Amino acid sequence: MVKIGVITGSTRDARVNKQVSEYILEKAKHVEGAEFELVDIKEYDLPMFNEAMPPAMANMNYDKDETTRWSEKIDSLDGFVFVTPEYNNAITPSLKNAIDYIGPEWGNKAAGIVGYGSTLGVAATLNLRAILSNINVATVAPVGGFSLFTDFEEMSTFRPSEIHNPTIQAVLETTVAWSKGLKSIRA
Ligand SMILES: Cc1cc2nc3c(=O)[nH]c(=O)nc-3n(C[C@H](O)[C@H](O)[C@H](O)COP(=O)(O)O)c2cc1C
Repeated sequence: MVKIGVITGSTRDARVNKQVSEYILEKAKHVEGAEFELVDIKEYDLPMFNEAMPPAMANMNYDKDETTRWSEKIDSLDGFVFVTPEYNNAITPSLKNAIDYIGPEWGNKAAGIVGYGSTLGVAATLNLRAILSNINVATVAPVGGFSLFTDFEEMSTFRPSEIHNPTIQAVLETTVAWSKGLKSIRA
């Protein structure tokens, strides 16, 4: 059994992210071999990164309580599904900030990515892949991509087409399989 966090990718009050993340969590209930939980970066309320040491050198000892709380949550997980919108062809500053906050807690784990935006979040997904590769997170090949035009009503209420089901299933199942594999190298 592996533990997988569905990580939200947006913190603005009017975000659609929570709807998409909760939908992914619901789909994940039918995937065997893993426990999924929602990890909402908004709840961790991380200010702009201001630790004294770069996370790669901090040895998981942090100045601030909010960093330790975030570190312990990510450290407790075996893998992740990032649900990311696209802001100016990239992930949001809040998601990048949350990733930057800590280092080894992410490492040697697997991740799936589900993007959304006017162009299915493709640029944000590629941006996130490059970032995650730098902290030893292995991203699986299947990628979810929802359209603001066809998977949302008035770009605000999530009504996903069923056409995405096989891809989302593949994202979740491959993330679980890779998370199990990578758990063995962390032992
Ligand atoms: C600052 C900003 C930049 C954006 N840039 C893009 C973009 O480059 N490509 C895109 O497809 N959508 C872009 N969008 C549209 C967002 O994908 C859309 O607003 C989405 O709902 C944002 O996710 P959220 O509501 O969960 O925060 C942008 C939105 C914002 C607020």
